[in-house]
Amino acid sequence: MKILGIETSCDETAAAVVEDGVTILSNVVASQEQLHARFGGIVPEVASRQHLLTMVPVVQEALARAGVGWDDLAAVAVTHGPGLAGSLLVGVSMAKSLAFSRRLPLVPVNHLEGHIYANWLASPVPEFPLVCLIVSGGHTGLFLMEGHGQYKSLGQTRDDAAGEAFDKVARLLGLGFPGGPAIQRIAQGVEARGYALPRAWLRGTDDFSFSGLKTAVLRLVKGQENAGSFTPEDSKDMARMAASFQEAVVDVLVTKTLETAQREGAREVLLGGGVAANLLLRDEMAARSPIPVRVAPPHLCTDNAAMIAACGYFRFREGHTAGWDLDVHPSLKLT
Ligand code: KG4
Ligand code: ZN
Repeated sequence: MKILGIETSCDETAAAVVEDGVTILSNVVASQEQLHARFGGIVPEVASRQHLLTMVPVVQEALARAGVGWDDLAAVAVTHGPGLAGSLLVGVSMAKSLAFSRRLPLVPVNHLEGHIYANWLASPVPEFPLVCLIVSGGHTGLFLMEGHGQYKSLGQTRDDAAGEAFDKVARLLGLGFPGGPAIQRIAQGVEARGYALPRAWLRGTDDFSFSGLKTAVLRLVKGQENAGSFTPEDSKDMARMAASFQEAVVDVLVTKTLETAQREGAREVLLGGGVAANLLLRDEMAARSPIPVRVAPPHLCTDNAAMIAACGYFRFREGHTAGWDLDVHPSLKLT
């Protein structure tokens, strides 16, 4: 069963065709990264206007690369939240018009659930129960997944999302946008980390907090603390700071996820979201976990439509479809 997936929740215009929820036939992503880089972050109005320009060619390209026609498709799956309202509207409108005109079922997909289902695009398929760590630019949370579509929220960030912390600290260090890949790049191979940054453990909960860590970096960068120990002009100091920050985020994410997985009796740990592309997080989680760790290839961790089509397949199989009144839900929750 072939599903066309459409994703426009943030700054990626994406369309993909996936067969039976597991086999990618095409996966087209038009990134707006360059467009937003000069503003140091995503400008919602710019994002939705760009989606309008690229949406149609991206869908055409996805169908062409998959070598399928409209009659080969079983349904159209689309992200309807969470995300930027104007951006989501472009994808949802496109999906509705395609489904309506081609008489195909319309399947609404939660973007966070899509990130989880990126892991079904690699074999072998994950085994339940799983503990999922979702770490993206807008969300950070731990979920127990006991079956398809069955989630229990265990914890979430109380302030910044992990990706947001990467982006804000990168901006502080003048490394540009998006921050995660920039911090990973300059931190690579830095042995002497050097800066003792705080970790918010929030013991007794599965919640996270990254704002204190961000403030600690700010104070060091502005010279308010340990004056003289950090010189922004010194590229070694910059790399050590990036590495120390990355290590602090990863340490908290890995420690808390593994404690939760053990407590919940999970058979596997599953990672999803843009920050799951981080090499240190992937390596540390795999090295420290006593149970298998699932993580999709980096290009399927960041926003794409293959994960939406994969998730759409499982939702459609359960009979989950939407009417023509489907609306966008910028704050949609997973549970
Ligand atoms: O899932 P995603 O593509 O979009 C949202 O749903 O938010 O995640 C984007 C986030 C950004 O904050 C970006 O800096 C972060 O993922 N990110 C990374 C890496 N690649 C992307 N963070 C750390 N290391 C990376 N390699
Ligand atoms: Zn995302």
